[in-house]
Amino acid sequence: METKNYTSIRLEVTSGCNLKCEYCHNSEYSNRKDDMTTKEILDLISNVKKHYNINKILLTGGEPLLNKDIIDIVSFITDLGIKADMVTNATLLDEKMARRLEKAGLKRVRISIDTLNDERSQRTGSMTATLWKKAEWIAKNTGIEVCIHTVCSPSNVDQMFEVYKKVYEIGAARWRVFDIGYQGRALTNNQLGFEKYYEKLISASKRIINHYLVNGYEDKLDIEINNIFRTILLKAEPRNLDVNEMLKIRLKSSPCDYVADHQISVRSDGTATLCQYFHETILDFRKYEFDVSATIHNVHNTPEYNLIMEELPYCSKCKYCMVCNSGCRARAKFLTGDITEADPGACYICKKVVEEIIPILPKNTQESYMECVNQKGLEPKYNIDDLKKMLTSKGLIK
Ligand SMILES: C[S@@+](CC[C@H](N)C(=O)[O-])C[C@H]1O[C@@H](n2cnc3c(N)ncnc32)[C@H](O)[C@@H]1O
Repeated sequence: METKNYTSIRLEVTSGCNLKCEYCHNSEYSNRKDDMTTKEILDLISNVKKHYNINKILLTGGEPLLNKDIIDIVSFITDLGIKADMVTNATLLDEKMARRLEKAGLKRVRISIDTLNDERSQRTGSMTATLWKKAEWIAKNTGIEVCIHTVCSPSNVDQMFEVYKKVYEIGAARWRVFDIGYQGRALTNNQLGFEKYYEKLISASKRIINHYLVNGYEDKLDIEINNIFRTILLKAEPRNLDVNEMLKIRLKSSPCDYVADHQISVRSDGTATLCQYFHETILDFRKYEFDVSATIHNVHNTPEYNLIMEELPYCSKCKYCMVCNSGCRARAKFLTGDITEADPGACYICKKVVEEIIPILPKNTQESYMECVNQKGLEPKYNIDDLKKMLTSKGLIK
């Protein structure tokens, strides 16, 4: 029985990349020789669309603008009535290209920028000052929505507040901050020292959110700092929900419910993995000639694909189960060796969010958040010392 209800595709349209970012989670998938052809990419898109009600495709890579047929791909997606979205390092995104993408129907561009200038950038060769100018030009001169996509890591956590102010200043519509994921070059990069990283991430977030609320930026800039804050929370109202009923439903779905149940992550060779942090093939579209029914029929049921919240022995009993969603399964597996264990990073972050971030949010948000906390549940399993021990054992703290 098919249980997935995919509504979006994260699609790597090339493995080619012209940067060598020092934390790249996709280094293993870079610059390969087995990329899908454009015809295969278009077959994949139209066949998946026939099978599922796909409403968004995020074009990624490698560097999506290195695909010489990118304009045709964006047009094809748009003509199917699907929202075309792209994440790019923007090195090739000049005004002419932005206009061509706009004409082809691109709705949103996520430009990857982590810092104000190149000094602390781990995105080697990315010319940060120029990128800010490009982002500003697109935001002010085209109909493409600009989102700045920032990876927060030990090397730029001290700059987060300045980056946030710059995002606002250039007129971007959205800012998304991703906590660095432990995969690919992030693990072999010995420049990253995680000693105080998580504490700094919380205090930078707190400073940003305070400033954001005091200045009433919520109607001008949408922000999301993964697992810590998102603008949409400000609109949440308490709904008198029964926490036990909600929990019953949540326990039956995947911890990563968005990616596991609603988004297919397709690699440039036509295989699909759960997300960018897992590398085991779940679906192989090329092997079945892009026949979606045959591909799904031959699904490879990896542990991450079928996992449900109920199978996480600690998280399912934690009081923050429904607000933390068990953090990141890839991080839990990396740090503890067990995909069903609590995620030590999320345990620390979630507790700090409850103690330090929620109290500074408006009352309606506080109440709706606390409604989802199971007061009879357990406290988060790991504290900051446990997290540091694990990071040390993995060589991420010297
Ligand atoms: C892999 S890149 C591919 C698209 C394009 N080449 C770019 O640089 O935006 C997609 C996004 O993943 C982010 N990313 C890379 N490695 C990461 C990691 N270890 N943790 C979190 N995000 C990461 C990048 O900064 C970028 O925003």
